[in-house]
Amino acid sequence: MFRIECNSIIGLTLVALLMTKTAFAESDNSTSFMSIAGGRISAEVNKEREEVIKQRNNVSNPVVGKEKSQLCQGCHGEFGISANTQIPKLAGQFSNYISKQVRNYQSGKRTHQIMSAMAATINDDDLADVADYFASQDKMKGSGSADNLIGKKLFSNSNVSNLGLACINCHGEKGLGLKPQISVFPVIGGQHKDYIRRQLVNFREGNRTNSPNGMMNKMAGSLTDAEIESLAEYVSQQRESSGEPTQPAVVSQQVARKSRSK
Ligand code: HEC
Ligand code: HEC
Repeated sequence: MFRIECNSIIGLTLVALLMTKTAFAESDNSTSFMSIAGGRISAEVNKEREEVIKQRNNVSNPVVGKEKSQLCQGCHGEFGISANTQIPKLAGQFSNYISKQVRNYQSGKRTHQIMSAMAATINDDDLADVADYFASQDKMKGSGSADNLIGKKLFSNSNVSNLGLACINCHGEKGLGLKPQISVFPVIGGQHKDYIRRQLVNFREGNRTNSPNGMMNKMAGSLTDAEIESLAEYVSQQRESSGEPTQPAVVSQQVARKSRSK
Protein backbone atom coordinates (compact mmCIF):
# COMPACT_ATOMS: atom_id res chain seq x y z
CA MET A 1 0.00 0.00 0.00
CA PHE A 2 2.73 2.40 1.03
CA ARG A 3 4.82 1.54 -2.01
CA ILE A 4 1.94 2.18 -4.42
CA GLU A 5 1.16 5.57 -2.87
CA CYS A 6 4.79 6.54 -2.90
CA ASN A 7 5.17 5.63 -6.56
CA SER A 8 2.08 7.50 -7.60
CA ILE A 9 3.24 10.64 -5.81
CA ILE A 10 6.56 10.52 -7.59
CA GLY A 11 4.75 9.81 -10.87
CA LEU A 12 2.50 12.84 -10.49
CA THR A 13 5.40 15.10 -9.64
CA LEU A 14 7.33 13.91 -12.66
CA VAL A 15 4.41 14.51 -14.99
CA ALA A 16 4.02 17.99 -13.58
CA LEU A 17 7.69 18.82 -13.94
CA LEU A 18 7.77 17.51 -17.50
CA MET A 19 4.73 19.56 -18.42
CA THR A 20 6.33 22.65 -16.90
CA LYS A 21 9.48 22.20 -18.93
CA THR A 22 7.52 21.79 -22.16
CA ALA A 23 5.41 24.80 -21.32
CA PHE A 24 8.44 27.04 -20.93
CA ALA A 25 10.17 25.75 -24.02
CA GLU A 26 7.06 26.68 -25.96
CA SER A 27 6.54 30.16 -24.53
CA ASP A 28 10.18 31.04 -25.19
CA ASN A 29 9.64 30.34 -28.88
CA SER A 30 6.44 32.29 -29.45
CA THR A 31 6.04 35.81 -30.84
CA SER A 32 8.56 38.45 -29.85
CA PHE A 33 6.38 39.99 -27.12
CA MET A 34 5.77 36.60 -25.60
CA SER A 35 9.38 35.64 -25.78
CA ILE A 36 10.24 38.66 -23.65
CA ALA A 37 7.36 37.94 -21.33
CA GLY A 38 8.10 34.22 -21.49
CA GLY A 39 11.72 34.69 -20.52
CA ARG A 40 10.74 36.78 -17.56
CA ILE A 41 7.98 34.44 -16.53
CA SER A 42 10.21 31.39 -16.59
CA ALA A 43 12.91 33.16 -14.59
CA GLU A 44 10.37 34.20 -11.98
CA VAL A 45 8.80 30.77 -11.76
CA ASN A 46 12.16 29.22 -11.01
CA LYS A 47 12.59 31.73 -8.25
CA GLU A 48 9.12 31.09 -6.94
CA ARG A 49 9.69 27.38 -6.51
CA GLU A 50 11.92 28.20 -3.57
CA GLU A 51 10.15 31.27 -2.38
CA VAL A 52 6.47 30.76 -2.89
CA ILE A 53 5.77 29.68 0.65
CA LYS A 54 7.57 32.75 1.90
CA GLN A 55 5.68 34.90 -0.57
CA ARG A 56 2.35 33.50 0.58
CA ASN A 57 2.96 33.92 4.25
CA ASN A 58 5.43 36.75 4.52
CA VAL A 59 5.17 39.19 1.65
CA SER A 60 8.09 41.60 1.42
CA ASN A 61 5.95 44.71 1.68
CA PRO A 62 2.33 43.86 2.39
CA VAL A 63 1.42 47.48 3.15
CA VAL A 64 2.57 48.66 -0.28
CA GLY A 65 0.97 45.67 -2.03
CA LYS A 66 -2.31 46.28 -0.24
CA GLU A 67 -2.27 50.00 -1.03
CA LYS A 68 -1.51 49.46 -4.68
CA SER A 69 -4.35 46.96 -5.03
CA GLN A 70 -7.18 49.30 -3.97
CA LEU A 71 -8.73 49.23 -7.45
CA CYS A 72 -8.41 45.45 -7.72
CA GLN A 73 -9.92 44.99 -4.25
CA GLY A 74 -13.06 46.72 -5.51
CA CYS A 75 -13.90 43.56 -7.46
CA HIS A 76 -11.61 40.84 -6.10
CA GLY A 77 -12.25 41.68 -2.43
CA GLU A 78 -10.05 43.29 0.20
CA PHE A 79 -8.42 39.94 0.99
CA GLY A 80 -8.79 38.42 -2.47
CA ILE A 81 -12.14 36.78 -1.78
CA SER A 82 -14.58 38.22 -4.32
CA ALA A 83 -18.27 38.46 -3.50
CA ASN A 84 -19.40 38.20 -7.14
CA THR A 85 -19.12 34.56 -8.24
CA GLN A 86 -18.19 35.55 -11.81
CA ILE A 87 -15.06 37.27 -10.49
CA PRO A 88 -12.26 34.91 -9.46
CA LYS A 89 -10.88 34.71 -5.95
CA LEU A 90 -7.17 35.58 -5.88
CA ALA A 91 -6.47 34.74 -2.23
CA GLY A 92 -3.58 32.29 -1.93
CA GLN A 93 -3.23 32.02 -5.71
CA PHE A 94 0.36 31.77 -6.94
CA SER A 95 1.86 35.21 -7.29
CA ASN A 96 3.45 34.39 -10.65
CA TYR A 97 0.18 32.98 -11.97
CA ILE A 98 -1.60 36.24 -11.06
CA SER A 99 1.11 38.29 -12.81
CA LYS A 100 1.06 36.03 -15.84
CA GLN A 101 -2.70 36.41 -16.26
CA VAL A 102 -2.57 40.20 -15.97
CA ARG A 103 0.22 40.30 -18.57
CA ASN A 104 -1.88 38.05 -20.81
CA TYR A 105 -4.81 40.49 -20.52
CA GLN A 106 -2.42 43.37 -21.29
CA SER A 107 -1.08 41.68 -24.41
CA GLY A 108 -4.48 40.44 -25.60
CA LYS A 109 -3.50 36.78 -25.24
CA ARG A 110 -6.42 36.50 -22.80
CA THR A 111 -9.38 38.82 -23.26
CA HIS A 112 -12.26 39.99 -21.11
CA GLN A 113 -14.11 43.25 -21.57
CA ILE A 114 -13.69 44.43 -17.97
CA MET A 115 -10.48 42.75 -16.91
CA SER A 116 -8.57 43.73 -20.05
CA ALA A 117 -9.32 47.38 -19.24
CA MET A 118 -8.30 46.90 -15.60
CA ALA A 119 -5.04 45.20 -16.56
CA ALA A 120 -4.10 48.21 -18.68
CA THR A 121 -4.01 50.39 -15.56
CA ILE A 122 -1.12 48.62 -13.81
CA ASN A 123 2.63 48.65 -14.48
CA ASP A 124 5.06 45.78 -13.91
CA ASP A 125 6.48 46.99 -10.58
CA ASP A 126 3.09 47.56 -9.02
CA LEU A 127 1.87 44.25 -10.42
CA ALA A 128 4.59 42.35 -8.56
CA ASP A 129 3.55 43.93 -5.23
CA VAL A 130 -0.15 43.46 -5.90
CA ALA A 131 0.29 39.83 -6.94
CA ASP A 132 2.37 39.16 -3.83
CA TYR A 133 -0.28 40.79 -1.68
CA PHE A 134 -3.08 38.54 -2.95
CA ALA A 135 -0.81 35.47 -2.92
CA SER A 136 0.00 36.06 0.73
CA GLN A 137 -3.64 35.99 1.85
CA ASP A 138 -5.28 32.93 3.42
CA LYS A 139 -5.92 30.48 0.63
CA MET A 140 -9.33 30.53 -1.08
CA LYS A 141 -11.63 27.77 0.13
CA GLY A 142 -14.98 26.15 -0.49
CA SER A 143 -17.45 24.82 2.04
CA GLY A 144 -15.52 21.57 2.38
CA SER A 145 -18.88 20.02 3.27
CA ALA A 146 -19.54 17.38 0.62
CA ASP A 147 -17.85 16.09 -2.48
CA ASN A 148 -19.56 15.87 -5.85
CA LEU A 149 -18.58 12.23 -6.41
CA ILE A 150 -18.87 12.30 -10.19
CA GLY A 151 -16.72 15.42 -10.26
CA LYS A 152 -14.23 13.85 -7.88
CA LYS A 153 -13.88 10.81 -10.11
CA LEU A 154 -13.43 12.92 -13.25
CA PHE A 155 -10.90 15.09 -11.47
CA SER A 156 -8.78 12.16 -10.34
CA ASN A 157 -9.15 9.76 -13.28
CA SER A 158 -6.62 9.83 -16.04
CA ASN A 159 -9.01 9.13 -18.90
CA VAL A 160 -10.65 12.54 -19.27
CA SER A 161 -10.46 13.40 -22.98
CA ASN A 162 -8.51 10.15 -23.41
CA LEU A 163 -5.30 12.10 -22.88
CA GLY A 164 -4.02 9.88 -20.11
CA LEU A 165 -3.79 12.90 -17.82
CA ALA A 166 -6.06 13.75 -14.92
CA CYS A 167 -6.74 17.22 -13.58
CA ILE A 168 -5.14 16.16 -10.28
CA ASN A 169 -1.77 15.65 -12.02
CA CYS A 170 -1.41 19.33 -12.69
CA HIS A 171 -3.73 21.04 -10.18
CA GLY A 172 -2.84 18.83 -7.22
CA GLU A 173 -4.97 17.12 -4.58
CA LYS A 174 -8.37 18.83 -4.36
CA GLY A 175 -7.13 21.38 -6.90
CA LEU A 176 -5.15 23.15 -4.20
CA GLY A 177 -1.93 23.32 -6.21
CA LEU A 178 1.01 20.98 -6.51
CA LYS A 179 3.41 20.22 -3.70
CA PRO A 180 6.20 21.13 -4.25
CA GLN A 181 4.54 24.26 -5.51
CA ILE A 182 4.69 24.96 -9.22
CA SER A 183 3.07 28.27 -10.06
CA VAL A 184 2.32 27.43 -13.70
CA PHE A 185 -0.61 25.33 -12.48
CA PRO A 186 -3.13 27.55 -10.71
CA VAL A 187 -4.92 26.83 -7.46
CA ILE A 188 -8.53 26.05 -8.42
CA GLY A 189 -9.80 24.27 -5.26
CA GLY A 190 -12.24 26.53 -3.44
CA GLN A 191 -12.63 28.89 -6.41
CA HIS A 192 -16.18 30.09 -7.29
CA LYS A 193 -18.16 27.40 -9.12
CA ASP A 194 -19.56 29.90 -11.64
CA TYR A 195 -16.07 31.10 -12.53
CA ILE A 196 -14.65 27.55 -12.88
CA ARG A 197 -17.57 26.49 -15.08
CA ARG A 198 -17.14 29.50 -17.36
CA GLN A 199 -13.39 29.01 -17.74
CA LEU A 200 -13.85 25.34 -18.65
CA VAL A 201 -16.43 26.31 -21.27
CA ASN A 202 -14.10 29.08 -22.52
CA PHE A 203 -11.24 26.59 -22.88
CA ARG A 204 -13.51 24.04 -24.56
CA GLU A 205 -14.90 26.57 -27.05
CA GLY A 206 -11.48 28.09 -27.70
CA ASN A 207 -12.46 31.47 -26.24
CA ARG A 208 -9.51 31.24 -23.83
CA THR A 209 -6.26 30.09 -25.43
CA ASN A 210 -3.54 31.35 -23.09
CA SER A 211 -2.61 28.08 -21.37
CA PRO A 212 0.91 26.86 -22.23
CA ASN A 213 0.81 24.60 -25.32
CA GLY A 214 -2.97 24.95 -25.29
CA MET A 215 -2.96 22.23 -22.64
CA MET A 216 -6.23 23.35 -21.07
CA ASN A 217 -7.94 23.45 -24.47
CA LYS A 218 -6.93 19.82 -24.93
CA MET A 219 -8.09 18.90 -21.43
CA ALA A 220 -11.48 20.61 -21.73
CA GLY A 221 -11.96 19.82 -25.42
CA SER A 222 -14.23 16.82 -25.07
CA LEU A 223 -15.90 17.55 -21.73
CA THR A 224 -19.70 17.54 -21.86
CA ASP A 225 -21.76 20.24 -20.14
CA ALA A 226 -22.72 17.72 -17.46
CA GLU A 227 -19.08 16.80 -16.82
CA ILE A 228 -18.12 20.46 -16.58
CA GLU A 229 -20.94 21.01 -14.09
CA SER A 230 -19.76 18.11 -11.88
CA LEU A 231 -16.12 19.16 -12.10
CA ALA A 232 -16.93 22.79 -11.28
CA GLU A 233 -18.99 21.71 -8.29
CA TYR A 234 -16.32 19.34 -6.95
CA VAL A 235 -13.49 21.81 -7.43
CA SER A 236 -15.35 24.72 -5.84
CA GLN A 237 -16.20 22.66 -2.74
CA GLN A 238 -12.60 21.99 -1.80
CA ARG A 239 -10.57 23.50 1.00
CA GLU A 240 -7.36 22.66 2.74
CA SER A 241 -8.14 20.68 5.88
CA SER A 242 -6.67 22.51 8.84
CA GLY A 243 -3.03 21.75 9.43
CA GLU A 244 -2.97 19.37 6.47
CA PRO A 245 0.52 17.93 6.22
CA THR A 246 2.36 18.01 2.90
CA GLN A 247 2.59 14.79 0.92
CA PRO A 248 6.06 13.80 2.11
CA ALA A 249 4.94 14.30 5.70
CA VAL A 250 1.98 11.98 5.11
CA VAL A 251 4.31 9.34 3.74
CA SER A 252 6.78 9.68 6.57
CA GLN A 253 3.98 9.45 9.13
CA GLN A 254 2.85 6.23 7.50
CA VAL A 255 6.38 4.87 7.68
CA ALA A 256 6.58 5.88 11.33
CA ARG A 257 3.24 4.25 12.08
CA LYS A 258 4.26 1.07 10.25
CA SER A 259 7.56 0.76 12.02
CA ARG A 260 5.84 1.36 15.39
CA SER A 261 3.31 -1.42 14.76
CA LYS A 262 6.07 -3.92 13.98
C1 HEC B 1 -14.39 45.89 -12.33
C2 HEC B 1 -14.04 44.62 -11.71
C3 HEC B 1 -12.57 44.20 -11.72
C4 HEC B 1 -11.49 44.94 -11.29
C5 HEC B 1 -11.47 46.36 -10.74
C6 HEC B 1 -10.34 44.07 -11.42
N1 HEC B 1 -10.72 42.84 -11.89
FE1 HEC B 1 -9.52 41.25 -12.19
N2 HEC B 1 -11.08 40.18 -12.94
C7 HEC B 1 -12.37 40.65 -13.07
C8 HEC B 1 -13.15 39.66 -13.79
C9 HEC B 1 -14.64 39.78 -14.13
C10 HEC B 1 -12.29 38.60 -14.08
C11 HEC B 1 -12.62 37.31 -14.88
C12 HEC B 1 -12.28 37.62 -16.33
C13 HEC B 1 -12.33 36.43 -17.26
O1 HEC B 1 -13.28 35.66 -17.17
O2 HEC B 1 -11.39 36.27 -18.06
C14 HEC B 1 -10.99 38.96 -13.55
C15 HEC B 1 -9.87 38.14 -13.62
C16 HEC B 1 -8.65 38.44 -13.04
C17 HEC B 1 -7.52 37.56 -13.01
C18 HEC B 1 -7.46 36.13 -13.53
C19 HEC B 1 -7.55 35.18 -12.36
C20 HEC B 1 -7.51 33.73 -12.70
O3 HEC B 1 -7.79 32.93 -11.79
O4 HEC B 1 -7.17 33.37 -13.84
C21 HEC B 1 -6.51 38.22 -12.36
C22 HEC B 1 -5.13 37.69 -12.05
C23 HEC B 1 -7.01 39.53 -12.02
N3 HEC B 1 -8.31 39.63 -12.43
C24 HEC B 1 -6.26 40.50 -11.38
C25 HEC B 1 -6.69 41.81 -11.18
C26 HEC B 1 -5.84 42.87 -10.71
C27 HEC B 1 -4.38 42.74 -10.35
C28 HEC B 1 -6.61 43.99 -10.65
C29 HEC B 1 -6.19 45.40 -10.27
C30 HEC B 1 -5.23 46.01 -11.17
C31 HEC B 1 -7.96 43.61 -11.07
N4 HEC B 1 -7.96 42.28 -11.39
C32 HEC B 1 -9.05 44.46 -11.12
C33 HEC B 1 -12.85 41.85 -12.58
C34 HEC B 1 -12.07 42.89 -12.09
C1 HEC C 1 -1.27 19.10 -18.17
C2 HEC C 1 -1.57 19.95 -17.06
C3 HEC C 1 -3.05 20.26 -16.80
C4 HEC C 1 -4.08 19.36 -16.67
C5 HEC C 1 -4.02 17.85 -16.79
C6 HEC C 1 -5.24 20.15 -16.36
N1 HEC C 1 -4.92 21.47 -16.28
FE1 HEC C 1 -6.20 23.00 -15.84
N2 HEC C 1 -4.73 24.35 -16.14
C7 HEC C 1 -3.42 24.03 -16.47
C8 HEC C 1 -2.66 25.26 -16.63
C9 HEC C 1 -1.19 25.38 -16.97
C10 HEC C 1 -3.57 26.33 -16.41
C11 HEC C 1 -3.25 27.84 -16.44
C12 HEC C 1 -3.39 28.33 -17.84
C13 HEC C 1 -2.88 29.74 -17.98
O1 HEC C 1 -1.70 29.99 -17.77
O2 HEC C 1 -3.71 30.62 -18.30
C14 HEC C 1 -4.85 25.71 -16.11
C15 HEC C 1 -6.02 26.42 -15.84
C16 HEC C 1 -7.21 25.86 -15.44
C17 HEC C 1 -8.39 26.60 -15.04
C18 HEC C 1 -8.52 28.10 -15.00
C19 HEC C 1 -8.11 28.60 -13.63
C20 HEC C 1 -8.29 30.07 -13.45
O3 HEC C 1 -8.06 30.53 -12.32
O4 HEC C 1 -8.64 30.77 -14.39
C21 HEC C 1 -9.33 25.68 -14.69
C22 HEC C 1 -10.72 25.96 -14.18
C23 HEC C 1 -8.76 24.37 -14.88
N3 HEC C 1 -7.47 24.51 -15.35
C24 HEC C 1 -9.41 23.18 -14.64
C25 HEC C 1 -8.92 21.92 -14.99
C26 HEC C 1 -9.70 20.71 -14.94
C27 HEC C 1 -11.11 20.59 -14.44
C28 HEC C 1 -8.89 19.70 -15.42
C29 HEC C 1 -9.23 18.25 -15.69
C30 HEC C 1 -10.34 18.05 -16.63
C31 HEC C 1 -7.60 20.31 -15.72
N4 HEC C 1 -7.67 21.65 -15.45
C32 HEC C 1 -6.50 19.60 -16.18
C33 HEC C 1 -2.88 22.77 -16.59
C34 HEC C 1 -3.60 21.59 -16.55
